[in-house]
Amino acid sequence: MMKIAVFGLGYVGAVTAAGLAAQGHTVVGVDVDPVKVDLIAGGHSPVVEPGIDDLMREGVASGRLSATLDCREAMDSTDVSLLCVGTPSTSHGATDLTYIRRAVQDVRDAMDHVRPPRSGHHSVVVRSTVPPRTGRDIVAPVFATDPPEGWRVGTAMCPEFLREGAGVADFFDPPFVVVGSVDDDTHRTMASMFDFLDVPIQHVSVETAEALKYACNAFHATKVSFANEIGRVFRPYGVDSREMMEIFCADTKLNIAPTYLRPGFAFGGSCLPKDLRSLQHMARINGVDAPQLLGTATSNEISVRDVIDRVLSVGGRHVALLGLSFKSNTDDLRESPNVELAERLIGKGFDVRIYDPILNPQQLMGSNRAHVMARLPHLDRLLMTTPQDALVGADIALVSAGGEQVVEALQDAQPRLLIDLTGRLGLEVERCAGYEGVGW
Ligand SMILES: NC(=O)c1ccc[n+]([C@@H]2O[C@H](COP(=O)([O-])OP(=O)(O)OC[C@H]3O[C@@H](n4cnc5c(N)ncnc54)[C@H](O)[C@@H]3O)[C@@H](O)[C@H]2O)c1
Repeated sequence: MMKIAVFGLGYVGAVTAAGLAAQGHTVVGVDVDPVKVDLIAGGHSPVVEPGIDDLMREGVASGRLSATLDCREAMDSTDVSLLCVGTPSTSHGATDLTYIRRAVQDVRDAMDHVRPPRSGHHSVVVRSTVPPRTGRDIVAPVFATDPPEGWRVGTAMCPEFLREGAGVADFFDPPFVVVGSVDDDTHRTMASMFDFLDVPIQHVSVETAEALKYACNAFHATKVSFANEIGRVFRPYGVDSREMMEIFCADTKLNIAPTYLRPGFAFGGSCLPKDLRSLQHMARINGVDAPQLLGTATSNEISVRDVIDRVLSVGGRHVALLGLSFKSNTDDLRESPNVELAERLIGKGFDVRIYDPILNPQQLMGSNRAHVMARLPHLDRLLMTTPQDALVGADIALVSAGGEQVVEALQDAQPRLLIDLTGRLGLEVERCAGYEGVGW
């Protein structure tokens, strides 16, 4: 069992403190608000959450849970500090890290005045939501540049995923536990602290742990707005969006699934762009605002523009485009963003050579042929039969097709810039000269 100091006794801190005390740890909560400290001292919760009152009362009665305004009292012989202070928005929307900075400094100052834990090792762990690089730039340096005597300090980010209203239940049954740290002792401490949970601990970089919480919240917000917006668009057509979304959610293959959630290049093809346009049209003719649908199309367009800008910044004139269809294992070129890339780069005067492992221009027909001929009338001339041919003299390679032949050709050609458009090309490609991920 450990001694744990919890800084900040709001929703996250109060639930965390009471939950860890219930697991047998000795927990001292610290807050700058005397009302919250007094409430806990009296066995009461400073926040309203189902189940928390019992946990608080039992924790305080057992002597394992206490609260104080005095940081030194909490830090004496303590194994872990969990920082759960608020990180509100500034008037410009930035994350205000004032409370984090102050709490980190309080922890550091206290170390000069109190005994280190018996092991000598102490973990300072951020549970508040903070932007990537906060741990690296703000938390870790406080202990690295001015190390406290007698203490070995490791720092980490371990985001909290509880929801208000279900905080206690979520604390004991989180979707995952994520620890971002470069310190092995801190990883071990966190694994031991959470060993009562039934979920594996994901060890990641500090920045990944920090970013993850924002990605989760953005996705939750996007889902709510999507369901609301799609309901608004279809309401004039008499569609009961509750019934429709019920069925929508039953699709765990494409809808409620990891499908389409891997970072990569723009979407395209014969359906998504067309149907998105139709939906926007339906919204427009009925006077319905659909900013998320509009934003989706804009965001997709920016994915293409971003790659063009990166190509322009290199300075070379020769581009190899390896992979032309909008996804692998199809020769459908309709609204392929790779066709768009080729068209725009040719328009800007680049010498573009294309290789696609399954594309045969002689076999293209119908609307597929009409589409590509309208955008790339000289496709026959641009299309090479091997990746080596496409890469002759190439300064830049834009790659969405994989395979042994492509890997070997890239290794030989060594372009100045190699943009991976899929993220699934493999380590051999990622080790090639000039490699950059499109979004990583
Ligand atoms: N509320 C949620 O559901 C939730 C869920 C997951 C993550 N988070 C994140 O966790 C963090 C805390 O959220 P919250 O809702 O618990 O905040 P909160 O505002 O309810 O509580 C923060 C507490 O920190 C205290 N505090 C400020 N400076 C302090 C210091 N130097 N020392 C000790 N205490 C100090 C405040 O007095 C306050 O009691 C935020 O970053 C938030 O984004 C919140």
